[in-house]
Amino acid sequence: MPLTKGNQEIYTHLAKVYDEVMKDIDYEDWADFIDEIIQNHNNEATTILELACGTGSLAISLDELDCYEITASDYSEQMLEVAEQKASIKQSNITWKRIDFFQIDLKEKFDVVVMLFDSLNYIKDTESIKIMLNEVKKVLKKDGFFIFDFTTPQHSSKYADMMNDQGITFDNYRFVRISRYLEAEGVHYNEFTIEKLSDDKQQVLARKNEVHVQRTYKLDDIRSVVNDAGFKIIAEYDGLDFVPATNQSDRITMVIQ
Ligand SMILES: C[S@@+](CC[C@H](N)C(=O)[O-])C[C@H]1O[C@@H](n2cnc3c(N)ncnc32)[C@H](O)[C@@H]1O
Repeated sequence: MPLTKGNQEIYTHLAKVYDEVMKDIDYEDWADFIDEIIQNHNNEATTILELACGTGSLAISLDELDCYEITASDYSEQMLEVAEQKASIKQSNITWKRIDFFQIDLKEKFDVVVMLFDSLNYIKDTESIKIMLNEVKKVLKKDGFFIFDFTTPQHSSKYADMMNDQGITFDNYRFVRISRYLEAEGVHYNEFTIEKLSDDKQQVLARKNEVHVQRTYKLDDIRSVVNDAGFKIIAEYDGLDFVPATNQSDRITMVIQ
C-alpha cells in the first residue's frame, strides 16, 4: 500500500537540509513554466492545490506571480514547518495543509492541482498511482486539470552516480547522500545521513538516517494508469520545455484532465 505506511520516517530529518540539497533548482523558472501551462489551458484558473509541496519553494514562487490563490500541502510536518517559516518571511498568502495524497480529505475543489519534482516517483507501483489519481479527481473542478512530473529510468541511469554528496555542511547540519539505481528493478535508493552539529561545528550532537526509495516510470506506464483512472492526457512535455515528451525523456511533465 501507499508510501506513507512504510515510509513515515522520510522527510523528517531531511527537512532541515532539503533546501541545500535542492539549491541548484530554479523554482522561479519552474513556477513560470507551470504558470504558462495554466494560462495556455485555462487562463481563467485561479485556485491551485499543490500536493507534496515539500518546503514550499514552488508554491512561494507561484504566489509571487500574484494571480493565484494557493493551497500547498505535504504529508511531512517537518517539511511544512520549513515551508511556513519561509512563507512568513516572504509574507506569502498561501494556505498550508498537511495532506496525504492517498487520502485527500478536502471539501474544496480547485482549478488546478500540481505535484512536482519526482513526488510521483515515491509511489511504489501503478496501482497506488491510481489511488492517488482518484483522490486528485475528487478535488478538481469540472474542466480542472492536474499537472505532475515524474522521472524515467534514463534519468536515474544517467544521474544516480552524480547524486552522491559527501559531507556537505549547511547551518548546523551536515549530510551525506549515497545514491544507487537498481536498473533491473527500476528502483532508485537515496540514503541520507544527517548530522546535527554543535554551534562550533566540531561535535556531532545527533545522527539520523533516511532511506528514500523511488520507482522510475516509463512514459507508457504513466499513460496507461492515467487512462485507467479515467483521465484524458492533455499534454506531455519533455522536462520543463514546451517540447513533446518521448521515450527518451529524463523527466516528463504531464497535464491531464
Ligand atoms: C522530492 S520531494 C518534492 C518536494 C517539492 N514538490 C519540491 O519541488 O521541492 C517529495 C515530497 O513528497 C512528499 N510526500 C511523499 N509522500 C507523500 C504523501 N503520501 N502525501 C503527501 N506528500 C508526500 C514528501 O514529504 C516530500 O516533501
